[in-house]
Amino acid sequence: MALADKDRIFTNVYGYQPWSLAAARKRGDWDNTKAILAKGRDAIVQEVKDSGLRGRGGAGFPTGLKWSFMPKEYRPDRPGFLVINADESEPGSCKDREIIRHDPHKLIEGALVAGFAMGARAAYIYIRGEYIREAETLFAAVQEAYDARLIGKNACKSGYDFDVFVHRGAGAYICGEETAMIESIEGKKGQPRLKPPFPAGAGLYGCPTTVNNVESIAVAPTIIRRGAAWFSSFGREGNKGTKLFQISGHVNKPCVVEEEMSIPFSELIEKHCGGIRGGRDNLLAVIPGGSSVPLVPADQIWDAPMDFDGLKAVGSGLGTAAVIVMDKSTDIVRAISRLSYFYKHESCGQCTPCREGTGWMWRMMERLRTGDAEVGEIDMLQQVTKQVEGHTICALGDAAAWPIQGLIKHFRPELERRIAENVREAAE
Ligand code: NAI
Ligand code: SF4
Repeated sequence: MALADKDRIFTNVYGYQPWSLAAARKRGDWDNTKAILAKGRDAIVQEVKDSGLRGRGGAGFPTGLKWSFMPKEYRPDRPGFLVINADESEPGSCKDREIIRHDPHKLIEGALVAGFAMGARAAYIYIRGEYIREAETLFAAVQEAYDARLIGKNACKSGYDFDVFVHRGAGAYICGEETAMIESIEGKKGQPRLKPPFPAGAGLYGCPTTVNNVESIAVAPTIIRRGAAWFSSFGREGNKGTKLFQISGHVNKPCVVEEEMSIPFSELIEKHCGGIRGGRDNLLAVIPGGSSVPLVPADQIWDAPMDFDGLKAVGSGLGTAAVIVMDKSTDIVRAISRLSYFYKHESCGQCTPCREGTGWMWRMMERLRTGDAEVGEIDMLQQVTKQVEGHTICALGDAAAWPIQGLIKHFRPELERRIAENVREAAE
């Protein structure tokens, strides 16, 4: 059953009302936040654990568990930090943008609640450089919160001091990787660090740090107010709650919509997007979780539950829930080749399999696109993806390999047809 309006967390996601503090208060934000903090750190972390919330930035790591990795004792020489990932650079992803544009106070209140729960001294919101107007909104909303003494010294009269800093990125996709983001905030070149240590052990300025996605943080106050049982009543085991889905591509009405986790793909598309352009039979394939997850062909995606396990079962993933729909007019080889170019361009160049491999993969994809490759190169390309996958410092290498693996798995006949047709053309 689709989500009822009364169960939506993001009630202003389309910006029908102002984003301002006064309007946010009317929507229920910042309502007795002091009472939430009075529950204490452990109670808040436990509530988030019980809610089943999993990270909304793509990886799906349990949010409450992540918060519990932060030290229990406060050390002035080693303060804790919350870093909020608003870099949202995954092709297809545009949900955090809507939160920041239209509901920034949900994020700022969430920063205070989450920061308090993990014993953080301050939050850094790292927003991608391309989000210019969104950054302006965020700066203004943070200032409103300071002026109203909701954050800063004695935040919400709780006796707790908590600062929120907004940090703008400069356009590098890799700065969305959590340790590259930390490097970037520290003023260094945005290159991922080896993990472990994870940020909770040694993060920003070497201090205990938790990096969370915008959506994960923005839902926290509502979860505490309405209770873990309410949030976990949506979705299914291991895939709880509500989620912002972003549907783009060949649907009649692309949109961002909050829905229940595990909603079937067909229902999401028919109910919110006016169906596939040209009808269901015109669907070719879907990338269901942003460009880092493999595509799924039409016949396998239609009934799939849109959650971590449902999409894993069809060889893909929920990722950021950025659903890219491609109908039969799509040149699927060209589409994946374009993604390969993106990863080649965005590789930070730090490790050899990624630096060299993304270039090889893109060049081979281009030959397959134009039909200039030999048939044996399909298997060679598959081998290259396996050499990159799992052999790099960060997940960008995997992200570059997986879309190609999905293409070869599901569209090998199309690759072979192109090669054959080009050979024929050359022979004629
Ligand atoms: P990951 O699985 O390595 O880590 C996820 C989170 O859990 C991190 O915060 C990590 O520190 C924490 N974690 C994992 N194991 C831990 C342990 N043993 N102890 C303590 N903490 C632990 O995934 P990663 O590299 O952070 O993210 C990859 C995902 O990001 C991809 O699946 C992709 O969907 C998504 N992504 C999202 C983008 C966006 O624009 N939102 C852009 C690019 C990728
Ligand atoms: Fe940089 Fe790529 Fe290595 Fe990640 S996998 S650290 S992006 S070279």
